[in-house]
Amino acid sequence: MTHTPARQKLASDIVTLADHEQHARQHLDDTAWAYFSGGAADEITLRANRGAWDALPLWPRVLRPLAGGHTRVQLLGRTLAHPLLLAPIAFQCMAHPDGELAMAYAAAALGAGVVLSTQASVSLETVADTVLPDPGRGPLWFQLYLQHDRGFTQALVQRAEAAGYEALVLTVDAPTSGVRDRERRAGFRLPPGVGPVNLAGLNAPATAALQSHQSALFDALLHHAPTWDDITWLQSITRLPVLLKGVLHPADARQAVSAGAAGLIVSNHGGRTLDTAPATATALPRVVEAVRAVDAALPVLVDGGIRRGTDVLKAMALGASAVLVGRPAVWGLTNAGAAGVAHVLRLLRDELEIAMALTGCATLADASPALLDVDAAQTKRL
Ligand code: FNR
Ligand code: LAC
Repeated sequence: MTHTPARQKLASDIVTLADHEQHARQHLDDTAWAYFSGGAADEITLRANRGAWDALPLWPRVLRPLAGGHTRVQLLGRTLAHPLLLAPIAFQCMAHPDGELAMAYAAAALGAGVVLSTQASVSLETVADTVLPDPGRGPLWFQLYLQHDRGFTQALVQRAEAAGYEALVLTVDAPTSGVRDRERRAGFRLPPGVGPVNLAGLNAPATAALQSHQSALFDALLHHAPTWDDITWLQSITRLPVLLKGVLHPADARQAVSAGAAGLIVSNHGGRTLDTAPATATALPRVVEAVRAVDAALPVLVDGGIRRGTDVLKAMALGASAVLVGRPAVWGLTNAGAAGVAHVLRLLRDELEIAMALTGCATLADASPALLDVDAAQTKRL
């Protein structure tokens, strides 16, 4: 196993998400580390995600009234205590035996949203039963990978609906995995006892023998890759709102709005799919602009490299409705199970409050692009 023994207690010198990462590194074996922390190819996008948030300066405003401030936001008709959700991450039982269950407990306790991966290592019903009874919980969404067997996919959607999930997040940036060099170097394989339990019973696609001029990717795997027509199909078989995760290009954002998407998640899969794709902080304002030209209210979320409260504030200033946190939650999970995830969420929320106070934002509605661009702010005399 990759976790011996299960850790429940948090070391007192962990005070940032980066500390969580360093600590987790000592507790995961090399292959699990390569899986959770790695990106695609040269990891240029993985690094760019962080670099792009860091490169945005916050221009603080002083002497603004802050009493009564709060981090609340509206999202798909609900009021949330703060704009943090846990991103879908596969196979969390590899980080800690409590896996997705610990994530769900922590998120519910801290009022954060949960987006459960199709490739979760705990059943989707168990996670829903953990989250739903908590009155302070955030949204509960199911991340969907369309499977080659559309009948199986439909049954999976029905299970998610029956279990109480409130939205589907269709991931569209990974028709195939990226070039995962770090994983290949480390010889990554799933350890025994960890697997995509919600896909049990799914048969491998029937494959005809490939001829020498044919490609295993284009002539086999990608036959089943989703297209825009599948968005229409998915909407026809579910009553749940469908958000698209993995949109970077403004033209795709416009098409997603026409296709009736209930929201978008600007994401490059944490730098794990197309290397050299733009950082999400770079894509976000362009996607927001494209969406706002046609829809004043459609939620646009973002993930990738969010590690500080200031990153969250910058995302909100660029027009995000909420943000998702990926790897840091896995570091917290590795370090102390549910308590570790709760600590990560708590740190981010506390840092967000401090960042708001120090920039003169009593609420997140006060966070506008002017916070990041002093020249634009001056011309408009804001
Ligand atoms: C992911 N991500 C992901 N996305 C998704 O839609 N379904 C999935 O099953 C997974 N699995 C997964 C595993 C691991 C180990 C990682 C690191 C990421 C992508 C994830 O939801 C999110 O987009 C990024 O992780 C966000 O970037 P940060 O916060 O990790 O930098
Ligand atoms: C990943 C897949 C599961 O990024 O989305 O590992």
